[in-house]
Amino acid sequence: MAEVLRIEKLEAGYGRFHVLFGVDLLVNAGEIVVLLGPNGAGKSTLLNSIVGMADVYSGRVVLMGRDIAGKPPHEVMKLGVAYVMQSPNNFGTPNIFGELTVYENLIAASAGVPREEVSRRIENVYGIFPKLRELRDRKSKFLSGGERQMLAIGMGLMKNPKLLLLDEPTAGLAPKLVSDFFMAIRDIRDKLGISILLVEQNAKKALEIGDKAYVLVTGRMKFSGSAKALDEAQLATLFLGH
Ligand SMILES: Nc1ncnc2c1ncn2[C@@H]1O[C@H](COP(=O)(O)OP(=O)(O)OP(=O)(O)O)[C@@H](O)[C@H]1O
Ligand SMILES: [Mg+2]
Repeated sequence: MAEVLRIEKLEAGYGRFHVLFGVDLLVNAGEIVVLLGPNGAGKSTLLNSIVGMADVYSGRVVLMGRDIAGKPPHEVMKLGVAYVMQSPNNFGTPNIFGELTVYENLIAASAGVPREEVSRRIENVYGIFPKLRELRDRKSKFLSGGERQMLAIGMGLMKNPKLLLLDEPTAGLAPKLVSDFFMAIRDIRDKLGISILLVEQNAKKALEIGDKAYVLVTGRMKFSGSAKALDEAQLATLFLGH
């Protein structure tokens, strides 16, 4: 199976604040890989390390055969990675432009995309999130939390990435909507062929759609294996650090 992302013996953090210790992770083409772990474990830092938003001290971050450790965010994005950050996040980056409509935000996210491709990709986004088509002319500052999250993911999809990094996309959503999001995430993989690294708090549902799972606890990988093989009892034990 073709390898999309391989992380080996990663040591990373922010300046002198060391967060990740000897972390390994593999995402193959067509996989949904679920990353779980307690608050503060370093899940977002692992995603930040991939895209050059955290400091990589040593180890390898290999994207489709190329070592990208330490490359700045814009270069990593160009190489085929889309990152939908946890919201709110420590960087304060607004993930969407409130004064622009849904449609205009999708256009804004398509910078660098060939013109003839743009409308096809917008259709792909509407195919995954039909609600966004209905909301196309609404200023995005008026969107609900769930609608914003759909738009943020849609904007990531406009670049037609090889790898989509999703950091807690269902946080704060109503339970009914959470199930819809998991179906949409599966559609992104199935219909658009995009590999996904998904950080989640909804462990049970995430493991249902995941192929592989990893559990990170205080900066160290405590489990890696089949998502189906990880049951809740085992997860609880891992979270408690036993
Ligand atoms: N930009 C940053 N600068 C300095 N330290 C940071 C930064 N972002 C996170 N940290 C610290 O790194 C550690 C890991 O945080 P991280 O956000 O990666 O955890 P997480 O597993 O994503 O947690 P959560 O489930 O709460 O999102 C924490 O101690 C946090 O305070
Ligand atoms: Mg986080």
